[in-house]
Amino acid sequence: QVAAASGHTVVLVDQSDEILKKSTKGIEESLKRVTKKKFADKPEAGAEFIEKTLKNLTTSTDAVAVVHSTDLVIEAIVENQEIKNELFKRLDKFAPEHTIFASNTSSLQITQLANSTTRQDRFGGLHFFNPVPMMKLVEVIKTPMTSQKTFESLVDFSKAVGKSPVSCKDTPGFIVNRLLVPYMMEAVRLFERGDASKEDIDVAMKLGAGYPMGPFELLDYVGLDTSKYIIDGWHSLEPSNPLFAPSPLLNKLVEEKKLGKKTGEGFYKYK
Ligand code: 3HC
Repeated sequence: QVAAASGHTVVLVDQSDEILKKSTKGIEESLKRVTKKKFADKPEAGAEFIEKTLKNLTTSTDAVAVVHSTDLVIEAIVENQEIKNELFKRLDKFAPEHTIFASNTSSLQITQLANSTTRQDRFGGLHFFNPVPMMKLVEVIKTPMTSQKTFESLVDFSKAVGKSPVSCKDTPGFIVNRLLVPYMMEAVRLFERGDASKEDIDVAMKLGAGYPMGPFELLDYVGLDTSKYIIDGWHSLEPSNPLFAPSPLLNKLVEEKKLGKKTGEGFYKYK
C-alpha cells in the first residue's frame, strides 16, 4: 500500500485469490482513512490519490511468474525459517540479476535467509511496523554480506515510501522487537502471577508511560501467533535467558486459536 501510494508499481502476491481479495479490500479501507486526513479539504484530490494508488497495484498468486520483472522483492510470509528459505531459493532462480531481496521478518536471522540464495550481496532486511501506513519507522538490516550499494538502495527505498529508516546489525529482534517483545512478555508474566489485571496493566502503560496501546492490546494487534513464533525462536537460541521464556498463557491462547484481533479474540474479545 505505501509503496503503491508513493508511485511504485507493486505486485502483491499471496496464496489464494480469496486472501488477495481480502487484502485489497483492507488496502482500500486503509487508503480511505489516510485520504480522509491527507486530503481533508480536497475530496477530489483524495479520490484521485486512491485511484492512482490502486492503479499501481496488481495481485498474483504466482510469485515465480511475476518476479522476472521485479527490482525489489519484499517477503512478508509466515515467520518460519524453512518456508522462507524455500521461497527465496525458488525466487532466486527466476529473478533478474540486479533484483534485491528483502525480508520483513520480525525475528529471524537475515543472514540465514540470504544464504538460501546466490545473491547474498543483494539481500537485506526491511522491517516495517503495524499499521504500516501510520508507523513511520523502517529498520534496514545489513548482514556482513550485504553490499553497501544494496544497503543504500534499501535506505533510499524506505525514504521514497515516506518512512524514516534506522539501521541495525543482524541480531535477534533488531532494535524495536528486541525491546518490545520482552516488555510485552513481562506484562503477560505480571498478569500470569496475578499481580495486576490485564486491563490495569494496559491502562498503566498508556497513562503512565504514554504508550498508544497497552501491552495486551498490542499483543492482540500484532497477533498472538506471531508473538509466539518470535519468543519460541529466541528461546531456542538462548534457553537460559529469562526474557525469552515462553508463557503458558500465551501458548494456551494460541492453541485455542485465539490469535488476537484477526480471529476476534485474544487477550480481549473483539466480536
Ligand atoms: N491505515 C490507515 N490509517 C490508520 C490505520 C490503518 N491501518 N490504523 C489507524 N489509522 C489511523 C486512523 O484512521 C486515525 O486517523 P485520524 O487521526 O485521522 O482519526 C489514526 O490512525 C488514529 O487511529 P485511531 O483513532 O483508530 O486509534 P489510535 O489513536 O489508538 O491510533 C495506532 C492507532 C496508530 C495503531 C496507535 O494505537 C499506535 O500507534 N499503536 C501502537 C502500534 C505499535 O506499537 N506498532 C508496532 C507493533 S510491533 C511490530 O509491528 C513489529 C512486528 O515485527 C511484530
